[in-house]
This record gives sequence, C-alpha cells and structure tokens, in this order.
Amino acid sequence: MSEVVITPARNVAGSIRLPGDKSISHRYAMLAALAEGTTRLQNFSTGADCASTLECLRAVGVSAAQENGSLLINGCDGKFTAPSAALDCGNSGSTMRMLSGILASQPFACELLGDESLSRRPMRRIIEPLLQMGANIDSRDGQAPLRITGRKLRGIEFRPKAASAQVKTCVLFAGLSAAGETVVEEKLRTRDHGELALRAFGAQIDRQRNRVSIRGGQRLKAIEATIPGDISSAAFFLCAAALFPKSNLIIDSVLLNPTRAVLLDVLIALGVQINVLQVDEQHGELVGTIKIHGGQLGGLKISGGQAAALIDEIPVLAAVAPYTRDGIEVRDARELRVKESDRLATVTRNLRAMGAEVTEFDDGLRVPGGQSLHGAEIDSEHDHRIAMAFTVAALRAEGDTLIRGADAARVSFPGFYQTLDTVVER
Ligand code: S3P
Repeated sequence: MSEVVITPARNVAGSIRLPGDKSISHRYAMLAALAEGTTRLQNFSTGADCASTLECLRAVGVSAAQENGSLLINGCDGKFTAPSAALDCGNSGSTMRMLSGILASQPFACELLGDESLSRRPMRRIIEPLLQMGANIDSRDGQAPLRITGRKLRGIEFRPKAASAQVKTCVLFAGLSAAGETVVEEKLRTRDHGELALRAFGAQIDRQRNRVSIRGGQRLKAIEATIPGDISSAAFFLCAAALFPKSNLIIDSVLLNPTRAVLLDVLIALGVQINVLQVDEQHGELVGTIKIHGGQLGGLKISGGQAAALIDEIPVLAAVAPYTRDGIEVRDARELRVKESDRLATVTRNLRAMGAEVTEFDDGLRVPGGQSLHGAEIDSEHDHRIAMAFTVAALRAEGDTLIRGADAARVSFPGFYQTLDTVVER
C-alpha cells in the first residue's frame, strides 16, 4: 500500500480537465462491445475500474485498443464468445452488476469474480430480477463469484428496492435481448446514463418520469464520442476549492448531467460561488465549464432523494464538514455501508482520527461545524473515495496528514495526486 503525506495548503487556484466519467465509460464500453461496427471513444476513464470492464470484454472476444489517443472498440453485433477463464471484475461493482445483465442471455456459461471488497458486496439485487427474466445464476449466498449460464430471457416489470443505477442499467441491458418489453420503475430517480447511452447507440427507449421501458431484440450501432470529465472526481477539487475563501478554480468539459450534478446545488447552498461558463450536449449528456470561488460555508442537511443523488460525493462532503459553520447532517444514506468499504464507518473513523466530533447513525452521520482538524494517520481501507476525501480534508488541517493506501485512488482516478498538485498553493 502506498503512502502519501499531505501538507496543509494556503489556497486552490488554476484550471483542470478531468479523465472521462467512470459511469459513462463503463456503459459506453459495454454497449460498444454489443454494437455493430467500431466505436471511437475519446477521454475514456483512466481508472482501474473501467480497465476491468475492458479486460472482461476482451475475454469474451471484443477487441479494444488505443489508437492516436482514442479507444477503439470493435463491436460483435450482439454475440460474445465463451471466455477461457473466469472474468475478473477487480474492485468494480459496476462491471460485475451491469455486465451480468448482458451475459445472462449470451450462449455460454461463465464465471465473474472480484477482489476481496467486491466479493463482500450485495449481488442479490441483480440476481433476483435476472432470475425473474429467466436467467440461470449461481452465487455464493448472494455474493460473488457469480456463475451465469446464458438463457433466453423474457421482459419483466421491475421495481427495485434499493435506489441503484447499476441495478437499473443491468436490467435494461438484459431487456435489450429479452423477449417483449422490460420496464424498470424507480422510487427515487437514479443517474440516467444507462438510458442515455442506450439511446446514443441507437436503441429505442421510453421514459416517463421514473419509469423506463425497453423493447427486446434491438440492435445497436457504433458511435464516436468524447466522454465528459468525471463529476465525481471533480467533487474532490470542488470541495478543496470550497475550503479557501480566495480560491479560483476552473473545471473544463465536466459532466453536468442533472442526475449527477446535485453537488453543485449543494455547494451553492453551502455558500460556494459556482458559475457555469458554457454548456453543450453530447449524446444526450450535458457537459460544460464551471468556475468556483470559495466563500463562508454555512451548513446542510442531506436526506431522501438528495442523499441517493449524492451517494458518491457524501464522503468528501462529510470530510470537509468540520470546516463549515453549522456542520453537515446526512440521513437516508444506508447504501454507503455497502460500497467499496462501509463508507459511514470509514468516514467516521478517519474524521475522529483527525480530532473531529462525529455522530454515526445507522443511515448517515452528523458532523458539527466550527471544528479544526489536526494532521493524522488516515487509512483508506482500500477505498478510492476515502483516500481522496481525506486528502482534501488534510489541506486545511493543522500539521501533516499521512494517507495510507493512497494508491486506492487509481480505481477511479490514477492522476489524482498529480492533478491536485497543479492547483494547490502552499
Ligand atoms: C454507479 C452507481 C452507484 C455509484 C457507483 C456508480 C453507476 O452505485 O455508487 O459509483 O455507474 O451506475 P449503485 O448503483 O450501487 O448505487
């Protein structure tokens, strides 16, 4: 495990552009693999998670290679070939859950496995709807490894219990090759990249409020696309800038999809100044340039649909909460307990290590404001978002902070520490 020492900063200023959004990169790669023709993707995520998706796709006969800065994926028009070994999804829940939806109807059997963290994460949430569709899946009591034997699938109407875009996308991807119509109706609307990506690759998909339906038997066509910068990676830089009243940061070509950009609303409500300098639409996804100035940070309560929409950003918001005036309370975020680590527990432990007072709830936490933190030893517990969140908290702490397991950042953003160095003033 690598260690990084973070010394406190005086300010954050400059201009950055981030690698492609992880959620979109996974989906475009999988649909490109299924499509007819060669897809050309620019700014594909550099994270290890998306590399796991590409490796799994190569193992089922898809060719994917870099050419002049673009990723070229040769689609196999709906038909993968049987892999010669188990598919290794690494640390990536997205890979295992969404790919299962596609593999469930392929004409072969295969096994999907993951690292220690992924092998502890809940898979029943995809196994149950896929079984209803007629799939054949064995698991280790609802956890990986998964053994999938391809079957003909039929469409279902599905109402997921947990708010999960991975589950919704898995079922829609399965629906693409199922007989009849597949419907997913969500209680809380989750990120909609699956729906937008299916449309971008030429599928017809209907959306009415939180109800999405897809007809089976549709063929996909290759696309050319530039993937917008990852807004969940931008979150660390936005929160770092929020900590310094004189900060001035520009983030270029970043994803602004409304189901993902709730962090911007929340930061504005906290007192940060954010200007959108320009917006474009690419394959249904909004992308733009934003400018951030720090300010006096007030306080926040995050719950309900907002907690679901901010699920990946809550660790960094909680890590900077002690520096606000009124603190941050998060409820309805039980899902954080089944991420790469139990993020409510890892955030609480690490905030306490830095001297903060925190109350942990079953479904959230409360971090009072007006606290100062001291440098400490932080353990990322192999979780990329924990390593990056506490790096940001360390920028305003008194004294140096040692981040153990800092290399976990490579799961979503291998260049995180180098990019941070370009905008931090010490
Ligand atoms: C993701 C959905 C979320 C999120 C994950 C990526 C996606 O997971 O935490 O980082 O790309 O659909 P859940 O679907 O488990 O909520």
